Amino acid sequence: MTVLVPFDELRERRSSVKWTRYGRDILPLSVAEMDYEVAEPIADAIIDRIRASDFGYIDAAGPLAPAFARFAADRWGWQVDPSLVRVTTDVSVGLVETLRYGVPVGSQVVVTPPVYTPFYEVIEEARGDAVSVPLVPTGDGWALDLDGIESAFAAGAKAFLLCNPQNPTGTVHSRDALESLAALAARYGVLVISDEVHAPLTRPGVDFTPFAPLAASAGARAVCLTSASKGWNLAGLKCAMLIAADESSLEILDRFPDEVTCRTSILGLHANIAAFECVDWLDDTISRIVANDAHVAALIAEKLPGVRYYSPQASYLGWIDFSALDLGDDPAARLLDEARVALNSGLQYGDSGKGFARINLACDPEILTEAFRRIAAAVTPAR
Ligand SMILES: Cc1ncc(COP(=O)(O)O)c(C=O)c1O
Repeated sequence: MTVLVPFDELRERRSSVKWTRYGRDILPLSVAEMDYEVAEPIADAIIDRIRASDFGYIDAAGPLAPAFARFAADRWGWQVDPSLVRVTTDVSVGLVETLRYGVPVGSQVVVTPPVYTPFYEVIEEARGDAVSVPLVPTGDGWALDLDGIESAFAAGAKAFLLCNPQNPTGTVHSRDALESLAALAARYGVLVISDEVHAPLTRPGVDFTPFAPLAASAGARAVCLTSASKGWNLAGLKCAMLIAADESSLEILDRFPDEVTCRTSILGLHANIAAFECVDWLDDTISRIVANDAHVAALIAEKLPGVRYYSPQASYLGWIDFSALDLGDDPAARLLDEARVALNSGLQYGDSGKGFARINLACDPEILTEAFRRIAAAVTPAR
């Protein structure tokens, strides 16, 4: 079962950026890393490989493809054909290479802010041109603006970067919206690259829809990017999968140089295989996140009236609208200085993140209590 590591031990034990970027007086709630111990079967799998001195190169997804296919079939009813699966170092490299080999240099690539900041960076790296079609508010969440997307496709966009579930809003896009997106992509010949790395962390009661099967039925080209890196907290192990929706999408992946595969970590590959079997650990982790989400919602309602909190439908990132507090366009900057709490600035996800900040929920609930005590003290005028 999932084990929480005490906060003070994390600072001593871990060397990742979450624990080295800020001074000891700051609560680090920005970087998307979880404060739980790695699942034991994953640790065992890595140690086995170390004991076998198995540190060579890999040239294919090998046993990872059927391991993921079993997980995807059990979890989402998605029948993945292992022959359509390739590997690379991480999701971001998968995104950039798919763009590089999937669309011509200078192509317009549609993104839907607020969205994972590196989407803008990978488009630049692939020498594309980002076109923003912001999500639209639905009252209690966010949705794709299908009319806006159609206009961008009609105006000549060649690719669409889908973030499903979406970071930072935690939105799990509805099947209907995704079916419409697939139909538009087929009609306008747009390549959809679907980043589904947060999908394993979808909360109970929410239906996650993998995009590739919808694209295949609609006749659109699509590539799904995924990994155990988020769900099981293995980002530093450097292994992700690219899954082509069909043979014609696979042609893009098969144009990659061999190096895109060979740079993948063999330890990461074995850790990913073990992870997709660790379903009890995953479910336990989701329960902890769901409990922390309710805790944060209650803390905000009690201590920060007017502040709007958006519970994630998947993953462990909460999206907070601080506009009511008059902290300016970038509340995270003020809260870092004045409350000593590190959140992600909403601005890094595009203009529609003005006045917002993102919080990491995968930590000790007492740290969340302390964070909101500090934030409330910093924003409440002294009497
Ligand atoms: C939407 C999204 N994609 C990709 C990643 C990173 O994945 P990787 O480390 O495999 O590049 C993250 C990390 O938080 C993410 O939120």
